[in-house]
Amino acid sequence: MKLAVFGSQDYDIKFLEKANEKYSYNITFFNAYLNEKTASLTNGFDAVCIFVQDRVNNTVMDTLAKNGVKIIALRCAGFNNVDLDSAKKNNISVVNVPAYSPHAVAEHAIGLILSLNRRIHHAYLRVRDGNFSLKGFLGFDLYNKTAGVIGVGKIGQEAAKILKLGMRCKVLAYDPYPNKELEKEGIVKYVDLDDLLKDSDIITMHCPLTPQTKHMINKMSIAKMKRGVMLINTSRGAVIETRDTIEALKKGQIGYLGLDVYEEETSLFYKDLSSEIITDDVFARLMTFPNVLITAHQGFFTKEAIETISNTTLSNIEKILKNEKCENELTKK
Ligand code: NAI
Repeated sequence: MKLAVFGSQDYDIKFLEKANEKYSYNITFFNAYLNEKTASLTNGFDAVCIFVQDRVNNTVMDTLAKNGVKIIALRCAGFNNVDLDSAKKNNISVVNVPAYSPHAVAEHAIGLILSLNRRIHHAYLRVRDGNFSLKGFLGFDLYNKTAGVIGVGKIGQEAAKILKLGMRCKVLAYDPYPNKELEKEGIVKYVDLDDLLKDSDIITMHCPLTPQTKHMINKMSIAKMKRGVMLINTSRGAVIETRDTIEALKKGQIGYLGLDVYEEETSLFYKDLSSEIITDDVFARLMTFPNVLITAHQGFFTKEAIETISNTTLSNIEKILKNEKCENELTKK
C-alpha cells in the first residue's frame, strides 16, 4: 500500500514512521500541501494523508480518482477542507481522527486566556530586557467571571470543565445540541446565543466550521458582547470575521483577542517566514495590537495527541483496506 503524506512536518514523519512499524506501508512524505497545483503528485498512490491546510475540492478529487487514490485519511478532526459529496461520487473513502486529545486544545485555549489576561507573553520579553515595570499589565481575577463556551462538544466540554472547576468561573454554553449531563453536573448553563454574547466576560469558540458557523462572530454579534470582552478562537479561523474584530479592537469593544486559527492561515502557518515580508495586511494589522495573542494552530500539538493521531490514521486506513467497519469513515455517514 502506497501512502502519500502531504504537508509533512518533522513531527509527522517521526510519529507516523513509529506508528507504521505495525503496518509497514510504503510511505512518501511531501512537504507540499495537497491542492490543485500538487494533486498530480498522487499518481500511483493508493491513499493520501492530509491535514488542515490541504484543500481537496471537486477538481482535486477528480485528479485523485484518476490517479487511483482510494482513501483520503485526514490526520485531524475538522474536515471542512474536503468535498465529501465529490469523494462519494468518486468512490473515495474519507476518514478522520475525530478525537485525539480534547485536553490538548482546551488547555491551549486556557493558556491563551491566562496569557492575555496577565500579559505573560509581554512580561517574558520585558523581564528579559531588564524592564521590570508593570505598566499595562493590570489583569483581572478569573474567579467568579462569566465564561461563554460556543460549541460544547469534546473540546468545548473540557474547556468548560477547566473554567468551572479550575478557575471557578460561571460557565454559559451555546450549542444546538445541548449536553444535558454536563448541565446536570453543574458545569455549564445552556443559554441562547444572544444571552451568552451579552453576559460573558470571556467567549471561547469550540464549534466546527460549517455554513452556519462561518463568520458567526461578526460586527453584529460583537456589538451584542460586553465592552472589553475577551474572545478566544481555537476552532477554525473562518468562524470569525477577522476584519470586524479589528474594528472592534480599535474601538475597545473587544478587549482581548486570542487566536490559534486564522481564516487565511494556509499561506502563513507552519512555515518559517521570519525573513520574509508578510503580505497579508489583515494579519499584519492584528499583530500591531498589544491585546492580541496569536499562535499558529498549535492547539492539537501535544505528544499524546500526535501519537493518537498517527496510530488512528494508520488504523483507519488499515480498516478501509481490509473492508472492515471503520467508525471514522465520513463518507459512510
Ligand atoms: P465536536 O464535534 O466534538 O464538537 C463540536 C460541537 O459544536 C458539537 O457539540 C456541535 O453540536 C457544536 N456545534 C455545531 N454547530 C454549532 C453552532 N452553529 N453553534 C454552536 N455550536 C455548534 O468537535 P471537537 O472535537 O470539540 O472540535 C471542535 C472544533 O475544534 C473542530 O471542528 C475543529 O475545527 C477545532 N479543532 C482545532 C484544533 C486546534 O489545533 N486548534 C484541533 C482540533 C480541533
